[in-house]
Amino acid sequence: MRTHYCGELNSQHLGQIVTLCGWAHRRRDHGGVIFIDLRDRTGMSQIVIDPDTPQAFALAESVRNEFVLKITCKVRPRPEGTVNPNIPTGEVEMLASEIEILNPSLTPPFMLDDDNLSETVRLEHRYLDLRRPAMQKNLMLRYQVAKTLRNHLDSHGFIEVETPMLTRSTPEGARDYLVPSRVHHGQFFALPQSPQLFKQLLMVSGFDRYFQITKCFRDEDLRADRQPEFTQVDIETSFLGEEEIMSIVEDMIRKMFKDVQNIALPDAFPRMSFAEAMSRYGSDKPDLRVTLEITELTDVMKDVDFKVFAGAANMTGGRVAGLRIPGGAALSRGEIDAYTEFVKIYGAKGLAYIKINDIAQLNETGLQSPIVKNIHVNALKAIIERTGAQNGDLVFFGADKAKVVNEALGALRAKIGHEKGHVDGRAWAPLWVVDFPMFERDEEAERWVALHHPFTSPKDGHEDMLTTDPGACLSKAYDMVLNGWEVGGGSVRIHKQDVQSKVFDALKISAEEAQEKFGFLLDALQYGAPPHGGLAFGLDRLVTLMAGAESIRDVIAFPKTQRAQCLMTRAPNEVDEKQLRELHIRVRQQNVSG
Ligand code: AMO
Ligand code: AMP
Repeated sequence: MRTHYCGELNSQHLGQIVTLCGWAHRRRDHGGVIFIDLRDRTGMSQIVIDPDTPQAFALAESVRNEFVLKITCKVRPRPEGTVNPNIPTGEVEMLASEIEILNPSLTPPFMLDDDNLSETVRLEHRYLDLRRPAMQKNLMLRYQVAKTLRNHLDSHGFIEVETPMLTRSTPEGARDYLVPSRVHHGQFFALPQSPQLFKQLLMVSGFDRYFQITKCFRDEDLRADRQPEFTQVDIETSFLGEEEIMSIVEDMIRKMFKDVQNIALPDAFPRMSFAEAMSRYGSDKPDLRVTLEITELTDVMKDVDFKVFAGAANMTGGRVAGLRIPGGAALSRGEIDAYTEFVKIYGAKGLAYIKINDIAQLNETGLQSPIVKNIHVNALKAIIERTGAQNGDLVFFGADKAKVVNEALGALRAKIGHEKGHVDGRAWAPLWVVDFPMFERDEEAERWVALHHPFTSPKDGHEDMLTTDPGACLSKAYDMVLNGWEVGGGSVRIHKQDVQSKVFDALKISAEEAQEKFGFLLDALQYGAPPHGGLAFGLDRLVTLMAGAESIRDVIAFPKTQRAQCLMTRAPNEVDEKQLRELHIRVRQQNVSG
């Protein structure tokens, strides 16, 4: 129907007769002349309809926003003074000779160029929201990223293999989405949280280099960077160690950023141990653009008079730490209260602080804070020296279980860093976090749980610690972090049965339970499994960062809300009694209290 796309016309096309198809983005009547901005996925063309073409003019008068039009027109220069250098088609306009309305439209529920739309309205009418140029750009970027990664992997000998969606529970540790079986009464499939077990089996099968761009499903608390179904670029290789795997995928990401967005990431991503990341940044995915750092103070707070600090410092697994904010003495009461509320999201019980008025006076005059009188001078000295605080600064404190302190101060660090401009000016700060512990302590259940998943290999030389000191045992796991987001993670796997058994022992998973859950993988490992390892990138997160979007929902065509619903299709939904009967399921009435 068309000869050209709306967005491609420029002064090279002057004088040509062209036919365009698209949507009426806007119609303006200008004293006898009508202008229509015609939009397709490439951009916009300004169409001029003159009363000299009465038929076209009459039709144009009836055109409303979002009508679908076919317009034949002549490309001419815009009159002097009306050139728009901000758009590619801004030098030209099209004089219409013929207009056909291919389809009218109801009045859209929102203006497509309104930048302050509620996300609810956008998601209810996602097909209209996706017409917006910003969303078109995001989805095209997503396609470019996926295509570039696929081509790169293909050219490096990786082959794409599909793995099942209806399967058994996988070991990523989130809650499963379950699918009831009609054929097998009372039995359920789980949707995969990742292809983890299958990709390891493909290594046992000898495929050597596998990848897959695939959906994963996790029923977990949602945030701006999490969706219940999301896409992984999943990778697994045989006969490569962690250095080689990290190097291959680091090159791939660097090249992809360059090819798709012309962004030059640094030549070698820095590495940081998990322990250092937690101690200095309170996070295993620190945003290194933020210049603020957390300071260890546990050792000096053991004998202070302030119970909150002494209590945390003396508790097993407790931590007291400070966060210095240069110039922070200028923070208002209201700002400090707001930060105190903010850290409560992470379980912190409060947010003590000291304003540094004069470091020469280690007393209530020099240091302004309700807690100073209860902290002895040696501890005050340590606070000043270790944080490097200067007059005019403020130091915040966290005191609790290390996990709470790290999460609270880690999040506060990133928040204040960006809000108050404590950033180093870099656009991109990639990082590898390495040397993860094998296990973390589940205090309530009084047992160790796998930090990655139970098939992650211990570091060379750490195998004995699996039995003697599980808490100190490090793994061959690695995460790629970009601007404070975990964009990918993986590990070298265990390929020997005896090491795997020790890991299950440390996790207090009995041989029977392991057999019941992962028996097929454990069996396979005994039939000549090659050394193997890999990782998975979160495609949605990579694209969100590259697009500069706020939430991964902005780079997913049809996402779910924070409450795990699709507002457009209204899924999930109730189903027929008959369907439920076939599935041997009875829905219990929710009682009033919920
Ligand atoms: P992991 O659980 O770290 O590893 O997931 C890999 C990457 O997937 C992304 N991601 C998510 N993105 C959006 N929404 C979510 N709910 C979500 N959960 C995870 C993250 C993360 O880095 N099988 C292992 C990989 C391996 O060991 O090879 C795995 O799934 O960017
Ligand atoms: P309180 O003695 O409870 O009035 O607290 C004195 C100060 O310590 C207040 O600024 C609290 O916000 C802060 N605070 C209380 N509990 C903690 C905690 N666990 N970690 C850090 N600061 C805290």
